[in-house]
Amino acid sequence: RSIKSLATSPSSHILRRGYASEAVPDRKVAVLGAAGGIGQPLALLMKLNPLVSSLALYDIANTPGVAADVGHINTRSEVSGYSGEAELGKALEGADVVIIPAGVPRKPGMTRDDLFNINAGIVKGLCQAIAKYCPHVSIEILLKQVCLYATVKFDGLVKLYLALVNMISNPVNSTVPIAAEVFKKAGTYDPKRLFGVTTLDVVRAKTFYAGKAKVPVAEVNVPVVGGHAGITILPLFSQATPKANLSDAEITALTKRTQDGGTEVVEAKAGKGSATLSMAYAGAIFADACLKGLNGAPDVVECSYVQSTITELPFFASKVLRCFAPLSDVALWYPVRLGKNGVEEVLGLGPLSDYEKEGLEKLKPELQSSIEKGIKFANQ
Ligand code: NAI
Repeated sequence: RSIKSLATSPSSHILRRGYASEAVPDRKVAVLGAAGGIGQPLALLMKLNPLVSSLALYDIANTPGVAADVGHINTRSEVSGYSGEAELGKALEGADVVIIPAGVPRKPGMTRDDLFNINAGIVKGLCQAIAKYCPHVSIEILLKQVCLYATVKFDGLVKLYLALVNMISNPVNSTVPIAAEVFKKAGTYDPKRLFGVTTLDVVRAKTFYAGKAKVPVAEVNVPVVGGHAGITILPLFSQATPKANLSDAEITALTKRTQDGGTEVVEAKAGKGSATLSMAYAGAIFADACLKGLNGAPDVVECSYVQSTITELPFFASKVLRCFAPLSDVALWYPVRLGKNGVEEVLGLGPLSDYEKEGLEKLKPELQSSIEKGIKFANQ
């Protein structure tokens, strides 16, 4: 199969075997937290992805077993396992995509924000390592080094090519700003290359909508915007396709179920963690989109929590692209077009119903405070 056909085929190809590896560019994917509830099935799904040539599995413990197990699967990628901080650099070196499901999951009664103290520290440490080991060597990096050495502030003129970072660890609303701050400090921040993975919200919205609207789930599209916690998750069912005549009460119920989807799983697992299998699926879909974008596929569009300047509020327009100010710069705006450099374009929200407009206003203070919390933590 040609690069083009592999790169443009639908996400379901991640479950297909059989490919001509020589036709596809080499791509290294690193999974940090690979021995966990999400990490293991995600490692499996990435092993099934023919766009991956090298799969590096990293965790603080138990990775060799996962790597040996997954490594026996007869698909294209070479699998290597790395355990403990001393091996983190090797896991990251040369990675094109780094997926981070490291951290503690929610237990019943906890919100995603309750995870903050533990996961924020884990994410900060991992991002420091990404900044150190992941920039791809280029003349621009050398230039940057010279500039730093000469203490000349050239920010914005020289560009560093970092791996595409897919942040799964919660609270995503805060861990993405933490990552951005860490990369900025290291001089490696490229807002086009940092993504909060919110695909599970989209996956859930599609499933719930298909069930209620009685339409084939494979045909369903629902944008989900905002953030990735409670009311900051805003599914735009008014833009859902195929169109269905749902009542206001049904839309409200669908919205609430999507916002509470994580809690539904946490409670059903009764203390044994949060969503892992559906999250691994969602993470694999998003990483696949990143790989397709890197390989030059046209029109790869996914929802993701990224730095964004799209807003109807006037103060947003005054922000500088590379400055990480509250809300205007970090916010999920659907959809994002993915390409060779990561985010090619952050597309607009499209027309919102009155209910969605209200939801958008309601989510802003919470999202803003989560962003500020992340920035504050990173700069402590
Ligand atoms: P888990 O506890 O089963 O696995 C986490 C793994 O991370 C463990 O294997 C642990 O050893 C590892 N880990 C801890 N510190 C590490 C470090 N410094 N470096 C590398 N690995 C480290 O948890 P689970 O269920 O896999 O969840 C992981 C994270 O994903 C949690 O933060 C959870 O809240 C989040 N999550 C995100 C979702 C999303 O939609 N973005 C959905 C569901 C969970």
